[in-house]
Amino acid sequence: MASQELIRKLEDTIENIPDFPIPGIQFKDISPVFLDSKLYEEVIADLAAVSKGKVDAVCGIESRGYLFGIAIAVALEIPFILIRKAGKLPPPVISEQYDLEYGSAVIETRQGQIRPGQRILIHDDLLATGGTTEAAAKLVEKQGATVAQFSFLIGLKDLKGEEKLKKFNAEVYHILEY
Ligand code: PRP
Ligand code: MG
Repeated sequence: MASQELIRKLEDTIENIPDFPIPGIQFKDISPVFLDSKLYEEVIADLAAVSKGKVDAVCGIESRGYLFGIAIAVALEIPFILIRKAGKLPPPVISEQYDLEYGSAVIETRQGQIRPGQRILIHDDLLATGGTTEAAAKLVEKQGATVAQFSFLIGLKDLKGEEKLKKFNAEVYHILEY
């Protein structure tokens, strides 16, 4: 969907930081995208176009998933629902635990904000191992809704995150792949 020009502009803008936050990791720093409001608008237009007419609400994952997720929801004139790291949202919440490289984490959403039967877009900036997104998708299903799409700015293909998402039978879209 994204034009070659948009892809090239993003590739030129996103910075690769070697060995951050730990040796061996190539960190993709998206913060320069926000210095260029025109580029940001083009990214939102692309992500919104991909989901137009296919979803009823957007779930964004704290924190970098909020940077684009809210703007996608506003562009599509549909609700935005926060998925947060544990302990930040007041009760009642629905929780889901997932594995990290070392240990585990929990994400939560306010009970009742995702409505039964809704078609949900799960949006995050980056798909790496897929653990975070898979947990978000489980939260959506626990609320009786369906994951209709996943969208990301960036997919890291070597980490095989898409494999973890196959079971949800939803479209997976990313603008860039590394
Ligand atoms: C990063 C990124 C994704 C997640 C991807 O978030 O923004 O949310 O990791 O990793 P995974 O596919 O292996 O689960 P992080 O937890 O670093 O937090 P942040 O968004 O608050 O910076
Ligand atoms: Mg994140």
